[in-house]
Amino acid sequence: MTINSLPQQAINVHPSIGTALVDAHSKETKLFRPSTMRSVTLSNRIIVSPMCMYSSENGYFNDFHVAHYASFAIKGAGMVFIEASAVEPSGRITLEDAGIWCDTHIPVLRQITTLIKSQGSVPALQIGHAGRKASVYSPFHELSGLLLKKEFGGWPDQVIGPSAIALSEDYTVPKEMTEQDMSRVTEKFIKASIRADKAGVEVLEIHSAHGYLIHSFLSGNSNQRTDQYGGSLENRMRFPLKIIQCVRDTWPQHKPLWVRISASDHKNDHGDIGGEDKDGWDINQSVIYARELNKIGVDVIDVSSGGNLAIADYSAGPLYQVPLCHYIKKEANVTTSAVGVITEPKDAEEILQKGKADYVLLAREFLRDSGWVFRAAKELHVQVQWPKQYASADRERYS
Ligand SMILES: Cc1cc2nc3c(=O)[nH]c(=O)nc-3n(C[C@H](O)[C@H](O)[C@H](O)COP(=O)(O)O)c2cc1C
Repeated sequence: MTINSLPQQAINVHPSIGTALVDAHSKETKLFRPSTMRSVTLSNRIIVSPMCMYSSENGYFNDFHVAHYASFAIKGAGMVFIEASAVEPSGRITLEDAGIWCDTHIPVLRQITTLIKSQGSVPALQIGHAGRKASVYSPFHELSGLLLKKEFGGWPDQVIGPSAIALSEDYTVPKEMTEQDMSRVTEKFIKASIRADKAGVEVLEIHSAHGYLIHSFLSGNSNQRTDQYGGSLENRMRFPLKIIQCVRDTWPQHKPLWVRISASDHKNDHGDIGGEDKDGWDINQSVIYARELNKIGVDVIDVSSGGNLAIADYSAGPLYQVPLCHYIKKEANVTTSAVGVITEPKDAEEILQKGKADYVLLAREFLRDSGWVFRAAKELHVQVQWPKQYASADRERYS
């Protein structure tokens, strides 16, 4: 019998792992307050941020991914983001990126989503296109980040972007996209969202950050077009909004759609609020973008930053992106998630208590400690549901 054929009641855990067991403290904390977006309920607000594992062959997830993602669900994360998955092969950053460009990618993704659900967590997937940052060596290679040439399996001749401007000397000069290219890529995003739905993904996120294709259209630092897709902010947002609108129209209405943005290219702002980059990409343009996304039915703006300039002016210290998230939440009046060097439970709780974000995402801290949810519960004095198989560890701690 495979997990897909198990009756649902045999694998569901009640209450979900990571749920606060009602007591005075859990009512006060926000981190452990459940939240509902459309038809999806999270048992807490702690989310595993999308992280490329650069461990796929031809885009397929494998046993490593199954174990990796299940480990966070078993340990109570409210939602688990599955890494950026490319909507077409040439939209991969590296040869080892995950992909969702064909139907045969669905079954193993379904296995991951089923496992995540079986623990009471929510499976989310990020889909994206690397744009001008495609075709480089993975971080595991000694040539990490350098251009992967055609003779070694790369595809520099297929790298696309808004304009023929390379990110740096290490990258290839992308081909300026035609309207035909834009229609093709839009269609790839739509098809990827259909596959994600079939694979049991409950929350979809579109990657519009870190200098990849969508972000590179938004920013004048990478988009120098003179047609209706470049120049004014309205023009630069046209293609990104078109893709996202088409996905929203296709993605089931009862399922939430998130968009990850880079709040700024950090050209002149030292990582803070301010320091305009009107012709490039700055926080005030992000506020306008967030409002537009909200209008077309995007549920959560996931606020990250940077990635579109080879040299940017900021340092990534603890909580460094939280002020950007707070500003966008306030100014655009949207639901947001905060990410970036959030490691301490009390900080995560304070972000939510002070209304700076609605969800917190952790990336590297979950790699260090997949049981971070239990650590947070302990430090915030909240008793939470443990997996029954591990309950003895919890009882010993509280006895
Ligand atoms: C190994 C690794 C892979 C990542 N892959 C992605 C990705 O697929 N998509 C994405 O939007 N961000 C990705 N990121 C960025 C993280 O989601 C997160 O925004 C960043 O690491 C800051 O959070 P942290 O300080 O909690 O690690 C990745 C980060 C790491 C460390």
